[in-house]
Amino acid sequence: MSGDIRSYRGIEPRFGEHVYIDPSAVIVGDVEIGEHSSVWPLVAARGDVNHIRIGKRTNIQDNCTIHVSRVSDRNPEGHPVHIGDEVTVGHQVMLHGCKIGSRVLIGMGAVIMDGVVVEDDVIIGAGSLIPPGKVLRSGYLYVGSPVKELRRLSQQELDFLPESAANYVELKDDYGLNVSPV
Ligand SMILES: CC(C)(COP(=O)(O)OP(=O)(O)OC[C@H]1O[C@@H](n2cnc3c(N)ncnc32)[C@H](O)[C@@H]1OP(=O)(O)O)[C@@H](O)C(=O)NCCC(=O)NCCS
Repeated sequence: MSGDIRSYRGIEPRFGEHVYIDPSAVIVGDVEIGEHSSVWPLVAARGDVNHIRIGKRTNIQDNCTIHVSRVSDRNPEGHPVHIGDEVTVGHQVMLHGCKIGSRVLIGMGAVIMDGVVVEDDVIIGAGSLIPPGKVLRSGYLYVGSPVKELRRLSQQELDFLPESAANYVELKDDYGLNVSPV
């Protein structure tokens, strides 16, 4: 059994090879999830008024919410959600209308708002709030509410980012595969 996967206005979520979706996750509409990514219990990803793109080997952990903002006269592209490859999205993170690069770790309970850009190779501490439109630059640790740049990441931390993603690829393989690629 896979998650609750629903179409919206005739658009079905689409999955690459070897994706795992927990049976309690809800995925709606214009959502694409790349190969070897995983979506854990009670995640809601709603691609209705804009689209959601999730890359390869990325994990979206339990209780995360992913939503988008609509196109308007003020904002002709609205705010979709783009998440890169080898990203770890910790438990209960809120991602709204933001762009996340590759090899990013988003700590538990973080809130990331419309128009935020997180470059590649960033760690965001648990409980951080990233206000609309902020850019988090590559290679740094950010913490706090509102978030502040704390320091440059060590080589050990940079090396950990793909390792964290690899741990989740291994874990989802252990759970077994349950959605067909489209
Ligand atoms: C931020 C983090 C990476 C630790 O970084 P660190 O440099 O090792 O932090 P330290 O423990 O040395 O603490 C440095 C300072 O930041 C503070 N700090 C640590 N984590 C913080 C957080 N999430 N938010 C705000 N401040 C934080 C510490 O209290 C300390 O403050 P002080 O210097 O005034 O005492 C870690 O605490 C964190 O939040 N990791 C996220 C883990 C996670 O959620 N993973 C996903 C689920 S598996």
